Order: sequence, then structure tokens, then C-alpha cells
Amino acid sequence: MSSRKITIAVDGYSACGKSTLARALATQLNYNYVDTGAMYRAITLYAIRNGLINGKDLDVESLNEQLDDIDIQFEFNEASKSSMILLNDENVESQIRQMDVNDWVSQVSAVPEVRRKMVTLQQKMGKEKGIAMDGRDIGTTVFPDAELKLFMTAEIGVRTNRRIAEMKAKNIPGDFEQVKTNLLQRDKEDMSRKESPLRKADNAIILDNTNLTRDEQLNFALSKALELISK
Ligand code: DC
Repeated sequence: MSSRKITIAVDGYSACGKSTLARALATQLNYNYVDTGAMYRAITLYAIRNGLINGKDLDVESLNEQLDDIDIQFEFNEASKSSMILLNDENVESQIRQMDVNDWVSQVSAVPEVRRKMVTLQQKMGKEKGIAMDGRDIGTTVFPDAELKLFMTAEIGVRTNRRIAEMKAKNIPGDFEQVKTNLLQRDKEDMSRKESPLRKADNAIILDNTNLTRDEQLNFALSKALELISK
């Protein structure tokens, strides 16, 4: 097998298991993994903490003014090939999964200046290839030339239960109807924003994992990746 490194873009709806699959692919291939949703979540946490969200409004002007004060970095753990997100040097990996962040992240990630800053960072992280990155616009905007693009989808009930289980593992309570409404609302906002909306890249492979186990998804995606790597 050649040692050619590729770029893997995993996009799709909220709570479809994009991170789980992208992380597992990175582990198998000895690639880096980047969770771009965590980056938008960290900026949202910053906005909440700094009073930029008042009632129903996001103060976009102040957020844009403060963008240079927001430092987002990942601390890579070589052994696990996973990463912790740092917001201005603080590990906020668990705070960014809270419900208040869920409620605001689509609005924050629709701000063009926020997206531009994040996309530039993401492109830097992937410039050497050998990366699996998950998000909403990876195959369309961040890495339009990615060799492997996957677009994930699953039934909403399955996605809701998966998200609740994920929250529970982090000791965050989650009500089924509230979580389901949030997922549907976020998908709608992510698909309808002007700047790089969520959409399937023309050459992405659709992966509906409603009835697939994690191993089945990984085997499918890994075989596609290995095919491309050995070309
Ligand atoms: O993957 P996630 O659920 O953690 O993402 C949180 C939000 O961030 C999602 O509702 C949309 C936004 N997002 C985005 O706009 N672009 C990305 N590349 C990744 C996430």
C-alpha cells in the first residue's frame, strides 16, 4: 500500500454520529481528527459567558469586535488521536455540550466573520492532509478537493436518542422532545444560512446509518478510504 495521505470530510445533520465515525477513521488510519462543531460551540460559549446573548438576541457587532480576543486551539492527544478544545487556554470540552450552547450555536455559526475565522483555522490544520474532519461545510467549503467525502444522515428519533445518550455520559440531562426540537431547529438553521450552509457536496457519498452499527459504518468508510489511499 502506498503512503499517500488523503483528506476525509464528514458532513451531515446534527447527531448523526459524524464525530464517532470521523474519530474512528482517524484512529484506524493514524490520521488527525478535528471536530469543527466544537470550534463553533466554543465561540458560542464565549458569547454566553461574555454577555453577548441577551434574551433572544445575539450581539453580532460586539462578537465581531471581540473575535480577535477569542483563541481556539486543540490539544491533541497522540495516544488516543483525539483532541480537547481550548478556549483561551481553558479546556471547555464538557461545557460546550450544555443545552444553552446547543440553543445558540447555529446562530453564532451563521455569522460570516465567525465562519471565515474558523474555516481559515481548519484549512491550516489540514494542509498536510492525513486528516479526518467533521462538520457541516467540510466537503463544500473547507476542503472542496477532499478525496473522500461522506454525508451522514439518520432518522430523527434515532439521532435524538443518540444525542441524549451522549449527554448522559457527560452527566448533562436531556429531555427527548426538547433535544429533538433542538436538533430539527439546528438542521433547519444550518441549511438555510447564507454563508456555507449545510448541504451535500455533489461528489459526497451518502451514509444513512439509521440501521447500521458503528462497526458497519466504520468498515464501509474505511474500505472507501483504503481504496483511495492505495490508488
Ligand atoms: O457538530 P455539532 O453538533 O457539534 O455542531 C454544532 C453546530 O455548529 C451546528 O449546529 C452547526 C455548526 N457547525 C457549522 O456551522 N459548521 C461546521 N463545520 C460545524 C458545525
